[in-house]
Amino acid sequence: MHRSKPHIVVGGGIMGLAVGWKLLRNGIEQVEIFEAGEAGRSGAAWVAGGMLCPRAEAGFEDMDVYEEGVESLNLYPLLLNELREDAGDVAPAIDNCGTMMLATNADEVRELHRQFEFRKREGVPVELITGEEAREREPLLSAKVKSAMWLAKDAQINNRKLVLALRQAFRNRGGTLHEQEPVSEIVIRNGRAVAVLCGDVEHEASSITVAAGAWSSKVGGLWPNLSIRPVKGQVIGLRIQPFAKLKQPIRTPRVYIVPKDDGRLLVGATSEEVGYDKRVTAGPVMELLHYAWDVFPAVFELEIEELMASFRPATKDHRPIVGDSETNGLYYATGHYRHGILMMPLAAKKVTEAILKHRHTQTHFVSTAGAVL
Ligand code: GLY
Repeated sequence: MHRSKPHIVVGGGIMGLAVGWKLLRNGIEQVEIFEAGEAGRSGAAWVAGGMLCPRAEAGFEDMDVYEEGVESLNLYPLLLNELREDAGDVAPAIDNCGTMMLATNADEVRELHRQFEFRKREGVPVELITGEEAREREPLLSAKVKSAMWLAKDAQINNRKLVLALRQAFRNRGGTLHEQEPVSEIVIRNGRAVAVLCGDVEHEASSITVAAGAWSSKVGGLWPNLSIRPVKGQVIGLRIQPFAKLKQPIRTPRVYIVPKDDGRLLVGATSEEVGYDKRVTAGPVMELLHYAWDVFPAVFELEIEELMASFRPATKDHRPIVGDSETNGLYYATGHYRHGILMMPLAAKKVTEAILKHRHTQTHFVSTAGAVL
């Protein structure tokens, strides 16, 4: 009996799981994910803060992060409804809590005001508030907080529930997950990506999507090689207590503190150019805790539950690589740098649309449905 080849995704982090699941939801029958570690738990999203904050993260050179970030954030409600259909109650809810950006000294106040003016000019919804107004909203903020920017439309999500729900949804839809199976090479023949190599076994594919995050440039067989480097982030996981609660993520230029709905309080994150060195080190942990304590003194009493590190996948210009490639049958969903969780719905949509378009072209199938949902 003729059996068609599966669509293969390289990488079982947030991007790979989302692409695999979306392909299945859009009528593709066989999807296989190859993951070097444990799907969902080995990638950057497991260690992330889960902030969905395009307004806070809009930088002077990064207005595309804002525009694409807002587009992607707008896709979240529908995506989460679908995730509930396929994964049940393990699917998380979005928390439309806003973000507060804080300044504690004259330099930071000047910078915050510039950031505020920039956002206003660009049409980003933003409010500048005083230290007192910030403490009215968050009574436990330090008296050192002099000024704050309030970004009411930002949101957050439980990063861990999200990747576990994607994993569950992928499997419930009939996807095949190969864990502890690193792909060493994409096999390209006659200009077409035809298989992935795991150990000495070749797995043939109808399409291949590289979604291996910071490890994407380690996947062989691609020419030119993907230029993605790991940018290490160390994060401290504290346990929230009744006397140390926050309503939303707070950020300063040196630290962010993110309360999660499972009782974790995340303090992050460093940005280190140290390659794949995953060790958690004393200096950055000390500094992050100090910076956090400076604006939110209650952290002093909290239990440290976890010390974590992971790697953001960064391209040279910090723009993601998403969708079609110059090689037939080869697609990308990688290089999202600091914004993987925010950008996941948009990336999954783009890659799924690209794969379906090629499939339809190849089979002369004319779709009236159009966009991928
Ligand atoms: N998006 C937060 C970080 O990369 O640390």
